[in-house]
Amino acid sequence: MTALTTGVQVGAGLRTDSGVRIGYAPARPTDGRLVVGEAARLRSGTVLYLGSRFGDRFETGHHVVVREECDVGDDVCIWSGTVIDYGCRIGNGVKIHANCYVAQFTEIGPDAFLAPGVTIANDLYPGSEESRNVMSGPVIGAGARLGVNVTVLPFVHIGAGALVGAGAVVARDLPEGCVAFGNPATVRGSVAGLVPVESRVRPVNGSASRYRFTEGRP
Ligand SMILES: CC(C)(COP(=O)(O)OP(=O)(O)OC[C@H]1O[C@@H](n2cnc3c(N)ncnc32)[C@H](O)[C@@H]1OP(=O)(O)O)[C@@H](O)C(=O)NCCC(=O)NCCS
Repeated sequence: MTALTTGVQVGAGLRTDSGVRIGYAPARPTDGRLVVGEAARLRSGTVLYLGSRFGDRFETGHHVVVREECDVGDDVCIWSGTVIDYGCRIGNGVKIHANCYVAQFTEIGPDAFLAPGVTIANDLYPGSEESRNVMSGPVIGAGARLGVNVTVLPFVHIGAGALVGAGAVVARDLPEGCVAFGNPATVRGSVAGLVPVESRVRPVNGSASRYRFTEGRP
């Protein structure tokens, strides 16, 4: 570890573009330290606040913000335009795609995947002081996968390995290994019971969209 600036420790092999800010001072009080592990790759527009810790091989796209008091594991990728608010815990191997918002006090288990546009809420009754006092994001279990534009409400637990379909609004807990979608998201099946994708599609030529559903979709 070497000291980059006051309070900022970085591991060997850091690669940054210009326009990266490592150690932005938050308005909220923190311990004033920021630790970034080995071999980080940070792209232009990334802002990492003082008071967080990142493991090894942390990687960002462009214009990624991670606020203070976050604990981020090894091999985490966060893609362009995503904001991680303060006080979150993100496990090893988590991938968070573009344009996501992860609210304060969210826990994301190892190897979970958030598709583009996932939005996480933490304040059940916005504008209420009582609600603010118990503000809490969800727990997203290890290896869970959330489809594009999924919204997750406060206090919810999504079980390990669950697959949440595109556009779902998760208002209540979901069990391990389920397939769930809809608003509100309900269990529709299991990951183990999914029809193999290769039996559902056929290739097409001459289009960037390389496959279509087969007729009489299984
Ligand atoms: C939910 C999902 C996994 C499919 O699960 P499945 O059990 O195979 O469901 P099926 O495709 O057999 O669809 C069953 C029914 O649910 C509907 N459905 C499928 N996905 C849905 C969704 N996300 N929201 C609402 N309805 C959906 C289908 O239209 C179908 O309705 P029908 O019976 O009236 O025709 C898939 O549709 C999905 O949303 N995947 C996530 C894609 C994504 O966001 N990827 C992120 C990386 S880019």
